[in-house]
Amino acid sequence: MTQATIAVFPGDGIGPEVTAEAVATLEAVAPRHGLSLTFSTGTIGGAAIDASGEPLPVAELARARAADAVLLGAVGGPRWDDPAARVRPEQALLGLRQGLGLYANLRPVWTVPELLPASPLRREILEGVDLVVVRELTGGIYFGRPSERRTTPEGRAAVDTMVYTEQEVARLVRAAFALARQRRRRLTSVDKANILATSRLWREVAHEVAREYPDVAYEDVLVDAMAMHLIRRPRDFDVIATENLFGDILTDEASMLAGSMGMLPSASLAGAPLPGTPCRGLYEPIHGSAPDIAGQDRANPLAAILSAAMLCRHSLASPAAAKAIEAAVSGVLAAGHRTADLAARGEVAVGCRAMGRLVRERLEG
Ligand code: IPM
Ligand code: MG
Repeated sequence: MTQATIAVFPGDGIGPEVTAEAVATLEAVAPRHGLSLTFSTGTIGGAAIDASGEPLPVAELARARAADAVLLGAVGGPRWDDPAARVRPEQALLGLRQGLGLYANLRPVWTVPELLPASPLRREILEGVDLVVVRELTGGIYFGRPSERRTTPEGRAAVDTMVYTEQEVARLVRAAFALARQRRRRLTSVDKANILATSRLWREVAHEVAREYPDVAYEDVLVDAMAMHLIRRPRDFDVIATENLFGDILTDEASMLAGSMGMLPSASLAGAPLPGTPCRGLYEPIHGSAPDIAGQDRANPLAAILSAAMLCRHSLASPAAAKAIEAAVSGVLAAGHRTADLAARGEVAVGCRAMGRLVRERLEG
């Protein structure tokens, strides 16, 4: 029996609705796979700002640190959007990433045959897409200092700093190679080495690390070209490694290949994804808090449920539990069930709770 504690942060907007379905999915799958799970629920993001003035209270960071894995819904919303505000819900995410050392962000994107009509791209481009972006998550311009506004004799100015150390690059690239070995053994490293010093270091270190993985086909691609290739020939990619800001932008772009953000999970790991070796991680859907549909039972819980599958794989070292959840999701989609974001015109949509229940019925059935 594997015992594990999971910190749960439902967050804001549709976060609580989709997280409830992910937790129920884990509860359903656990006894079948020798897992004994304890859930410890906390409040971060906008809800925490309202309650205590802080997006990530110290006690909540401690809750996350004490857990084997973190399951997160979504944070943010228009209520807390004032650009002049001292605190923002998103700071909770950055604080958890840095506080838990979650440097490797895995964002898989694949197409489901039944959902191809939901994407704005043509079927022949999308069929068979199956890639993972491994985004560096605790460095680069997100955390570099100085990052500030300045008053100069000429007027207002601002500065952000992009900084990478060779250790930060090497561990991220190693995580991406480790993942490529478990997949189709192709790695694309994305940078802007024709312009940025950080990218030239990135490329140099990536080439050094690549020598440790002669069995993985490696290539460098500039980020602007990558933005184009993702739309023109997304099938050609397996694992894509890149720094924090490029990864942020490319993963929103890549998510459109899948048709709906409501399908895509993510894992943020404090180590390389190695089979059989559980790793501390945070798991969340890549979609946001969707305040416009919050509390209406209309959200798609599948990204949250698939994030729970990633949790089983990477933090509980239970690939069997992960596969069971993923198969249940595929089965529900193949059977024609759709939430509102996936439904084609004229198709009947099921709600968030009903979709969660359909997944659990397949797990239990
Ligand atoms: C993401 C989000 C976050 C990021 C924001 C909400 C801080 O866009 O996880 O991709 O920029 O990393
Ligand atoms: Mg983003």
